[in-house]
Amino acid sequence: MTNGQVTPFIWHGEVLEVLDQRLLPAEEVWRAHSDVEGVYQAIHEMQVRGAPAIGIVAAYGVVLAARGCARASDWYSRLGASIDWLAQARPTAVNLVWALERMRGCLDQVADAPELVRVLEAEAQRIHEEDAAANHAMGVLGADRILSGGGGPRRILTHCNTGALATGGQGTALGVVRELFSRGVLGCVHMDETRPWLQGARLTAWECEREGMPCSLNVDGAAATLMAQGQVDWVVVGADRITANGDVANKIGTLPLAILARHFGVGMMVVAPSSTLDGATPSGDRIDIEERDGKELRRSGRRWLAPNSVTVFNPVFDVTPASLVDVIVTETGVCEAPGNQMAPLQSLT
Ligand code: MRU
Repeated sequence: MTNGQVTPFIWHGEVLEVLDQRLLPAEEVWRAHSDVEGVYQAIHEMQVRGAPAIGIVAAYGVVLAARGCARASDWYSRLGASIDWLAQARPTAVNLVWALERMRGCLDQVADAPELVRVLEAEAQRIHEEDAAANHAMGVLGADRILSGGGGPRRILTHCNTGALATGGQGTALGVVRELFSRGVLGCVHMDETRPWLQGARLTAWECEREGMPCSLNVDGAAATLMAQGQVDWVVVGADRITANGDVANKIGTLPLAILARHFGVGMMVVAPSSTLDGATPSGDRIDIEERDGKELRRSGRRWLAPNSVTVFNPVFDVTPASLVDVIVTETGVCEAPGNQMAPLQSLT
């Protein structure tokens, strides 16, 4: 915590402190990382998670790597190797590679070792500040779009955690929810618990409760019932990668929500900064979807949830086709019906 504001990490210049999100909400444990190896583990083991947050943390990891090798004659190749390595910490969120390529771009701008660390640190802080500003802009644009039809308070259904814990600012999808709340027009935010890692139950519920938002937690399978009962006006989610044709990779369980939303006539909004746009990948079937260890489903802490030997399918993201998305919001604009556009990403950049 800093000044009462939830933040997933704090940069101290020579140390990056990361709030270990695996332990929330039961415990608030901060882990100090002073080298690139620690930062890699923090991302890989999901001490910190959420597409924009892992990009920013990786950028600070490059600064720590530079501190470790700035005086070596081969600093250029060593830093390049550290950047390549960090990029492999998690495969699906394009923000990670995007931030690391910005950091790599700095390497050719420096003349000597002291300047190297200064230039890299300034770039990492810029990436961080730009994300906070993008969050704010998306909150305003998304809320304006949701309110554009007039009417009363809006009921939102969201998935995973896309709030302050997942970004450098107030959040992407949850930033839109925060904006609705600050305007006094949030009826309720329904939160999918988000199996198996429970980002919705452990993190989103924690963020929303702290701020006194009207919120309600449900198992992922109750989303259909909520929509059937007419309790949802918009599904609002984040993204880990949006491909050139507008397909959206996001937390596993997003695709079923999009199918349900279309069935029940509920709006489907995706909110993501432009650092999540991947114009180089033509469509969602080309995205590398992370699969995690089966033990995440077989047990919870010391309690077995399934037989130890059972085969498990544990992809942690899915891909929603652009045709099932009604609106994509970035900090630069709103793209309506991305599935109907020849070049949806170009309308956002
Ligand atoms: O596995 P996670 O917790 O990193 O997955 C996070 C998500 O899927 C979020 O919806 C996405 O990163 C957008 S967060 C602003």
